[in-house]
Amino acid sequence: MISRAPIDLPVYTDEVVRGLTSRPKTLPCKLLYDDRGSALFEEITRLPEYYLTRTELEILQERAIEIVQAVGTPVSIVELGAGTASKTGTLLRALARRQMRLKYFPVDISPAALADAKKRIRGQCPNALVRPVVADFSDGFHFLREISGRKLVLYLGSSIGNFEWNDAVAMLSRVREQLMPGDALLLGTDMVKPADILVPAYDDAQGVTATFSKNILMRLNRELGADFDLDLFRHVAEWVPSRSRMEIFLESMRPQTVALRMAHLTIRFIAGERIHTENSHKYTLEMIERMLCVSGFRLEKTWFDKREWFGLNLARA
Ligand code: AVJ
Repeated sequence: MISRAPIDLPVYTDEVVRGLTSRPKTLPCKLLYDDRGSALFEEITRLPEYYLTRTELEILQERAIEIVQAVGTPVSIVELGAGTASKTGTLLRALARRQMRLKYFPVDISPAALADAKKRIRGQCPNALVRPVVADFSDGFHFLREISGRKLVLYLGSSIGNFEWNDAVAMLSRVREQLMPGDALLLGTDMVKPADILVPAYDDAQGVTATFSKNILMRLNRELGADFDLDLFRHVAEWVPSRSRMEIFLESMRPQTVALRMAHLTIRFIAGERIHTENSHKYTLEMIERMLCVSGFRLEKTWFDKREWFGLNLARA
């Protein structure tokens, strides 16, 4: 008997097929973060134009004691999308001065990043008990239930900005469902600012962000047997004030056809046609207040940097 082993298609195949056969064409932004993409994003956080990471870190460093005081102790810390936890040490050190035992639960989809996070926090705050949690947000936030005592949930870096309004509210509501009244959320948000600051942050002079964006095509070439020619697409970043967001695209520089061999799909592009890969929402204080309120939180306090480019928002369940 002849049997052919089924080809193991990546779990995201259907989403990619749906996105590339829609009008306008889209790709899910979570595909940006494979190992190479995560490393490229770390490189983005060090670019002169990408002010977000260093501004948020500056707020954390200057206000850690104040933040910890406002949260109230003792608490356990849960960090959603912790990555390598490069900004969390400051806060944990401030907390460790106020409470004897300190538990830190970094949550991420990447086990490699979590291993890094654990090593880093061990070095920066030896008193903290680090318990990494490997989880995907689409599995829900059930792990929060299993952590006893009062909690502070961190969601930093304006990662919330990748979500459309309704999806952001749905995500925050699902977090809220797993918390008790009195538990806290510290939410990092990038604020609305002039386009001449925003656009270069998403289209840097060295082209690191362009490489990061095109990595999604490289991944499809490798994992779906696609034949995207990376030189025939251009990275485009636009500020769209009416939607209060940066929109990021890959634009076909000429008419072309691309085959996704393993998905048995051929896609045609006309010159100038775009694939929408990412949004990065920017907020006003009113928007943040509303988003938190409709998700079951009350905004208690926001800390800004001097230029008010980035906000750290303390909200109570
Ligand atoms: C990780 C979602 C916060 O929107 O600023 C950076 C992603 N994309 N440059 C952002 C990103 C291109 C980043 N977040």
